[in-house]
Amino acid sequence: MIPFINVRAQREAYKSEFLKAEQDVLDSGCYIGGPVVQGLEAELAAFTGTKHIVTCGSGTDALTIALMALGIEPGDEVIVPDFTFIAPAECVMRLGGIPKFADIDSETLQISPEEIEALVGEKTRGIIAVNLFGQCPDYKIIKETAHRHGLWLIEDSAQAFGATQNGAHACTFGDISITSFYPAKPLGCYGDGGALFTQNDELAKKIRLIANHGSNTRYVHEICGLNSRLDAIQAAVLRVKLRHFKDELNTRRENARKYDVFFAERNNAAKGANDANDNGAKIVPQKIASGNTSTYAQYTVLADNSESFIKQLDNAGIPHCIHYPAPLHEQPCFKELVQDKVNTNAVEASKKVVSLPMCAFTDVDEIIARLKKEM
Ligand SMILES: Cc1ncc(COP(=O)(O)O)c(C=O)c1O
Repeated sequence: MIPFINVRAQREAYKSEFLKAEQDVLDSGCYIGGPVVQGLEAELAAFTGTKHIVTCGSGTDALTIALMALGIEPGDEVIVPDFTFIAPAECVMRLGGIPKFADIDSETLQISPEEIEALVGEKTRGIIAVNLFGQCPDYKIIKETAHRHGLWLIEDSAQAFGATQNGAHACTFGDISITSFYPAKPLGCYGDGGALFTQNDELAKKIRLIANHGSNTRYVHEICGLNSRLDAIQAAVLRVKLRHFKDELNTRRENARKYDVFFAERNNAAKGANDANDNGAKIVPQKIASGNTSTYAQYTVLADNSESFIKQLDNAGIPHCIHYPAPLHEQPCFKELVQDKVNTNAVEASKKVVSLPMCAFTDVDEIIARLKKEM
């Protein structure tokens, strides 16, 4: 059985390091906060070059805390991508805001700066840009748009801790940036976890306050906040993984390159074919725009005939996922929201996307050998 993400092989590879780090925390008697969590925050700061890092309970919590710190109020409009995981839009709605769904670029699948510009109105307060599948959207234009309209920018880098754009690290582009340590993420822990990143001293203070019940001084609560903390065991696991993270990223990128070569050759060979499996239909990987490196949180292709490609994957015993089967504006929970136009690229992508197994422990040679027999 080929796993979609081989977290067990990763655990085996660094097992003695994990066991020591986990045991040290258990023996320390310090399970929430403390030196291991602080150590992780310092290492994340050094990795990205960010001044303030606050770890928290999950990527979703990080988005909620970021929106609260930036002062979202009921009725505020926030521009989010139409094609992504639900969390950004969900967090806006839960705080009484109104998500406005922007279309994506048809090749990179990232939120489109032109579509953001078109959605800015009187009630717009901010933008949440998502680094989809591990690659950043065009932050030069997005930041300029946010600045020109006086909007704040949250960078949702849940899928892209470790990515770069023009030499700058992901998690440095927003007024507040966030990531997720969900186990399947490129840098994942063994439960839920997340972090917020900012260069701004005032925002950092607010973030810490909100994440800790609105309290800086014990039993004095300045605002109603929430309880969102990364526990020390998760921090210990993450510190082990962070030591191997750059090597893992290199392997992920090499795996992606092998897939890219396979699909380029396959598309060339299949040109003009018109057989029962619809082998003439193109299968094109998500484009990585120039100036970017991806973490390949997902290796996702756009298949003209996704049904037939999925059948081939099933026959070859290769697991796959659909990220994501519908644009967000079609989700039942957002049905009350007015959508001014059809986001054709988001709709089209949701019909074509198929994600393949991807991590530093994925045997891509084996997957490609199986695909060659099937296609
Ligand atoms: C783009 C994006 N944002 C936010 C989240 C939420 O992260 P978490 O699962 O840690 O709450 C995810 C998780 O998959 C995500 O993909």
